[in-house]
Amino acid sequence: MANKPVKITETILRDAHQSLIATRMTTDTMLPIIEKMDKVGYHSLEAWGGATFDACLRFLNEDPWERLRKIKDKAKNTKLQMLFRGQNILGYRHYADDVVEYFVQKSIANGIDIIRIFDALNDVRNLQTAINATKKEGGHVQAAISYTISPVHNIEYFVKLAKEYENCGADSICIKDMAGLLIPYEAEKLVKELKKEVKVPIQLHTHYTSGVAAMTYLKAIEAGVDVVDCALSPLALGTSQPPTEPLVKSLEGTEYDTGINLDALTEIADYFKPLREEYLSSGLLNTKVLGVDINTLKYQVPGGMLSNLVSQLKQQNAEDKFEEVLKEIPRVREDLGWLPLVTPTSQIVGTQAVLNVLMGERYKMVSKETKGVVKGEYGKTPVEIDKEFAKKIIGDEPQITCRPADLIKPELETIKEQCKQYIEQDEDVLSYALFDNVATKFFEQRQAAKYKVDTNILDKENKVYPV
Ligand code: CO
Repeated sequence: MANKPVKITETILRDAHQSLIATRMTTDTMLPIIEKMDKVGYHSLEAWGGATFDACLRFLNEDPWERLRKIKDKAKNTKLQMLFRGQNILGYRHYADDVVEYFVQKSIANGIDIIRIFDALNDVRNLQTAINATKKEGGHVQAAISYTISPVHNIEYFVKLAKEYENCGADSICIKDMAGLLIPYEAEKLVKELKKEVKVPIQLHTHYTSGVAAMTYLKAIEAGVDVVDCALSPLALGTSQPPTEPLVKSLEGTEYDTGINLDALTEIADYFKPLREEYLSSGLLNTKVLGVDINTLKYQVPGGMLSNLVSQLKQQNAEDKFEEVLKEIPRVREDLGWLPLVTPTSQIVGTQAVLNVLMGERYKMVSKETKGVVKGEYGKTPVEIDKEFAKKIIGDEPQITCRPADLIKPELETIKEQCKQYIEQDEDVLSYALFDNVATKFFEQRQAAKYKVDTNILDKENKVYPV
């Protein structure tokens, strides 16, 4: 049988620590091991994007751009990969096209090779600007399908979406299962169909949350998946990815042999092992996130959404309504055109379901975000929202049918003007564009730190020329 080596994207520098320790791994922690990781023969290192950008500025007092450059400097052979939320970039609203384009340009200029682009609604229009910009800059476009389960999210739907992505210029397709909902034999069917219908490589991304991920990978591999996302064992399992080492060993000597040397991996894992202990003892890594959450599969909603619901109900002294809310979730989803349950739509659906149950009447109270979905502010829902329902929610307010970002005027020049006093590098404009207040605080601290350096110099001078 012809060899069909499986490739691995290592996520320990991005998703693994985002999922387990709230994205708190610092650049200084990463750097000493990157040269070794670079020699492993990974398909790519996922090392940037997602929540890392926000966490750098907000919690670590680090410049995310500098992190990227430092990683690139030590990873000369392996492709660097980032996660990019379509028109949201790495932030929480839709940005104008000129900001999206400039962000892509600077990401690639600073070292990113592969950009994984996704949208919560799977609205292709929300990916298009990022896709075009990535292609223009010579980067690899990986278009990601936000995987979810619903009556409309069947294999035909995903295959059709993958083909659309391919037509838009995707160099590869990722099945992005952020909640661990994809079970082994479903994965087999989905990958088989995608491999039949789509020419570009297929990558699978999942989380161990529900305990099935490693089995899902094996079935996907047998079905022909090209790349899978794994995390080195010290930061694998639980809400993170399946561990890298056992998969490499399992495939050794088979037609799927990754070609990766297990000893090289264990040496790197040994670097991270004491860090895991540190994270555990400081409480940053909570054993709660390391277990198996079977409710995810039982209710087909992300684990994070379930725990949010429990705490929302607790606050209202209405924990006894949990089952009722769970039943309300698919009804709200249906009303809202079968939204996938990913950030931010999982919060929107969850909160509206709670309101519907607690108010004793459906849509007696409607959140601003629910109205936003009905108005089309997030993009096109998988199924068109019923006209009668829309009228009930937003009255005679018009619905947006165009791409939401078409309504946003170019904003880059205004942003540049707003933050010009802080700018030390071009990229600072983008940090400010995404997280204005957080970035301002970071810039101010950076300036203050410099001032301290200057006073040291003065001290030295004082010693040279004593008065
Ligand atoms: Co993920």
